[in-house]
Amino acid sequence: MLIYQATASAPVNIACIKYWGKRDTKLILPTNSSLSVTLDQDHLRSTTTSRADPTFKKDRLWLNGTEEEIKAGGRLATCIAELKKQRRQVEENHPNIPIISNYAVHICSHNNFPTAAGLASSASGFAALVASLAALYKLPATPSELSLIARQGSGSACRSLMGGFVAWEKGVREDGSDSLAIQIAPREHWPDLHAVIVVVSDHKKGTSSTAGMQQTVETSALLQHRINHVVPARMTAISEAIKAKDFDKFAKITMQDSNQFHAVCLDTEPPIFYMNDVSRAIIALIVEYNRVSVAATGHLKAAYTYDAGPNAVIYAPAANIPEIINLIAHYFPQNQTFSDPFKLFTNQVPGKLPFP
Ligand code: ADP
Ligand code: DP6
Ligand code: CO
Repeated sequence: MLIYQATASAPVNIACIKYWGKRDTKLILPTNSSLSVTLDQDHLRSTTTSRADPTFKKDRLWLNGTEEEIKAGGRLATCIAELKKQRRQVEENHPNIPIISNYAVHICSHNNFPTAAGLASSASGFAALVASLAALYKLPATPSELSLIARQGSGSACRSLMGGFVAWEKGVREDGSDSLAIQIAPREHWPDLHAVIVVVSDHKKGTSSTAGMQQTVETSALLQHRINHVVPARMTAISEAIKAKDFDKFAKITMQDSNQFHAVCLDTEPPIFYMNDVSRAIIALIVEYNRVSVAATGHLKAAYTYDAGPNAVIYAPAANIPEIINLIAHYFPQNQTFSDPFKLFTNQVPGKLPFP
């Protein structure tokens, strides 16, 4: 008997220009464009296996060994339905290929890092899910085309289908057909740029990104200023900085945008606090590290950014990474640091498939 199964893995991406706010919550259309770096090492990844089988009764999914409900009309169901639809179209156009679009699927996913802790698990998770089903169904879709589907699982996921520097264009169409990810530059364009991830806490966050950004859209006046008057110019400027490999410009915009995103969270009613005292102490450390460097050389050495959680991501030229890791380890000895690609600690868990 033939087994129809495929495995795909996707890394997290960490935004320099943050996505925060939806203009359409069902299609997941954002209020502003965003731009991120896809991490290219093995520390923060989702690995997902999908299997189609005529004996399966219904679509099922296990995340980190525990079954998750696939709610009708929910994000998982939407992504699975869209990929089955695309397989059906391929089957209709190619009469000789096996008909498997009508089989139920079992999906098994593993994150090798904390889930729902502000380290972008929804991004790698939905990107890996879409990539594994696309591989199972042998779809001819490009990464940008698949990003349209991943977007409907979790907005940030659309950017994890490509490596390097990736923009999510907010698009203007109501059906979302132009709200997709495009690669600004591949990873090899700027190999000197590295990232250090400082795990301040691996606890599940109190306010999910989905709930938090909706509260912000409903209550924050500062968000309107941000989406209309700040983000468009920053998208252009950071794309230029990336193309020119201008770290000073890249770092300045990245830190400004992280600060404004967290300011917008504070401007939400009730206010949302994703950073904690350790997060803020790490900001103070990087600010001081940069101040000393600017005084000596005129250049910045590192850029911090925080997603919806307390964990720091520090972008820096490769030459500064050992110094940054030493600084973090010195002042915050109890923290876990993932470095890309300088490996300090990992919490890799071997993937175990719960399939019968
Ligand atoms: P994060 O900061 O980790 O992205 P979110 O609140 O945005 O946190 O999303 C977390 C949710 O994403 C999880 O509760 C789960 O529903 C979904 N998710 C995370 N990892 C996966 C995965 N590997 N496969 C499918 N869904 C996932
Ligand atoms: C702060 O993509 O997790 O990480 O679309 O509701 O699933 P949903 O939200 P999600 O939000 C990510 C927010 C962010 C910024 C970013 O990644 O751009
Ligand atoms: Co998320």
